[in-house]
Amino acid sequence: MAANEFDAVMDRRRVPTSKWDRYPEGVLPMWVADMDFPVAEAITASLRDRLDHPVFGYGGPGPATLRDVIAADMQDLYGWSISPADVVFLPGVVPGFNQALKAFTQSGDRLVVETPVYPPILAAAGNWDLTRKEVPLRSVSEGSTVDLHRLTAALGDAEAFLLCNPHNPTGMMRTRSELEAIGKACLASGAVIISDEIHCDIVYGGKKHIPIASLSPEIANRTVTLMAASKTYNIAGLKTAYAIIPDAELRRRFVAANLGMSEGANVLGLVATEAALRHGRPWKQALISYLEANRDHLSHRLSREIPEIRLVSPDATYLAWLDCTALELGDAYRFFLDKAKVAFNPGPSFGSDDGHVRLNFGCPRALLDEGIDRMVKSLSQR
Ligand SMILES: Cc1ncc(COP(=O)(O)O)c(C=O)c1O
Repeated sequence: MAANEFDAVMDRRRVPTSKWDRYPEGVLPMWVADMDFPVAEAITASLRDRLDHPVFGYGGPGPATLRDVIAADMQDLYGWSISPADVVFLPGVVPGFNQALKAFTQSGDRLVVETPVYPPILAAAGNWDLTRKEVPLRSVSEGSTVDLHRLTAALGDAEAFLLCNPHNPTGMMRTRSELEAIGKACLASGAVIISDEIHCDIVYGGKKHIPIASLSPEIANRTVTLMAASKTYNIAGLKTAYAIIPDAELRRRFVAANLGMSEGANVLGLVATEAALRHGRPWKQALISYLEANRDHLSHRLSREIPEIRLVSPDATYLAWLDCTALELGDAYRFFLDKAKVAFNPGPSFGSDDGHVRLNFGCPRALLDEGIDRMVKSLSQR
């Protein structure tokens, strides 16, 4: 029996999964943001209960009870007052930000993104024929921080900002003063803020996530906030997320932009999301403790055994952005895949260079150690 519920290693190849199916057996997958943990018992119990009613018709605009829980959570966790009617259910956060861009931009408009960034955020401008204005974060050796001056300058001349907070791939969180400066710059230029906050729950060291829309009603009225229980509770395959849009006109335009492409959420995903938000907090706290220990374990082992790799210990997410340039591997993703049989996400997919990779430490400690052991061995055999 594993000492901790998160220590147990499951055979995930028994069912189809993106994470474990992409690479051949023998390769350890440490890429896509999907954790190797079973979900909270409260979620499986609620799904079993729902299966007892064997009809799975359309779910409509989503349960009022779930809207109420989301509104209560926003108040409780962030001191942000929203109305249950502000919530729009979606099949995912990626469909959500694409729908927002469809609603609020026109061909040729300027969209600001910070790089490196989650690949679908990087790709979004191209989907809607927008001009992508990239604002690079400072490098890992400089702490992967926001260059606020460059960012606010870029926002002064843009129609939309696609914010990723907490940030994928670096795990960085924005401070209140950074968010205030971003909000001020967007209000001045009229840029709509599309804020992907899918990683808002996994936050370490007692830090607190701040939704940008919670800063003021003026900012909230220019913002589409996108959240989901999917990353935290490991239910991304249930395809359920939500937008919070307090401004009625913005919400109307957002809903109208759907054009039949991604209407509503999955009925089982709605059930799982409600169970997670209502009953999942003790599980979430235990998960965060486990992940925080994984994060520290990874940092300690890398600094001792592969000190050439630079890593800014993430404040949030179960993702680590590794700067491997000092190892001079050429394509670091390819090197670790071929020589260590470990699959990371390649730096260029985030708009960075091939000396960087993203590692997912949302897994049992034994798998994390296996991944690090393989990296160390592959480097010693160069
Ligand atoms: C920043 C960010 N946004 C969105 C997603 C995916 O969202 P969804 O599966 O709800 O479309 C991910 C998944 O890793 C992510 O990291």
